[in-house]
Amino acid sequence: MRKKIVAGNWKMNLDYNEGLGVFSEIINMVKDEVTGAQEAIICSPFIHIHSLVQLAKGYHKVAVGAQNAHQAEAGAYTGETSARMIKSVGAAYVILGHSERRQYFGESNELLAKKTDTVLKHDLRPIFCIGETLQEREANQHFDVIKAQLAEGVFHLDAAQFAKLVLAYEPVWAIGTGVTATSAQAQEIHAFIRKEIAAQYGQEVADNTTILYGGSCTPKNAPELFAQPDIDGGLIGGASLKSRDFVDIIKAFN
Ligand code: 13P
Repeated sequence: MRKKIVAGNWKMNLDYNEGLGVFSEIINMVKDEVTGAQEAIICSPFIHIHSLVQLAKGYHKVAVGAQNAHQAEAGAYTGETSARMIKSVGAAYVILGHSERRQYFGESNELLAKKTDTVLKHDLRPIFCIGETLQEREANQHFDVIKAQLAEGVFHLDAAQFAKLVLAYEPVWAIGTGVTATSAQAQEIHAFIRKEIAAQYGQEVADNTTILYGGSCTPKNAPELFAQPDIDGGLIGGASLKSRDFVDIIKAFN
């Protein structure tokens, strides 16, 4: 069956020492408090990744990821970081297609398809984000937007490649706003995503795909969200910066 995952997205927060501090606390709490087969992932700024991977050695429930990767293998792209570099410091995951990348850095579905290919080629697992804006939801376009993000971003993959993906549904209107999708709204979209995957790759692949919910997820609302049949965990922004909150969200599975 599919894996239950709680992934933290630190975004552009925490300096080097602060990040190591929060991560050490998370490891200690996960080690002592988290039972079952869940996996915790922290997607940090590039600066932290190497040191976090060292700290996580020996703790199989905790993995480290990046928040972006360039689509090219290498070359004259000042300021960018390649998938090969990310792999070389021991990260396991890369967030792709976050709405902040789509909005502030103009990342299109077409570009994200290329990034997905490059990341998979280097044996990293994409955490591929999709989700509609408030305007799109109010215009009742949310299903079409999600369908296009999947079709243009990841459905070119073959089934074996697709099986490496984690998907994250993050309604843009719920990110950092304190407004969470209701568990019913989130479940409705997650079930739709799984149906789209089944149509493309078959029911078995769909049943094995981990689909995370993201957007103002907290220790308080996580139990109800995670209890939904098609929600397999969370992608956590603000609450992942506080070790206690992040680990309490993982414990929402219990
Ligand atoms: P918040 O949890 O801060 O709303 O952020 C969600 C998110 O964007 C995770 O990628």
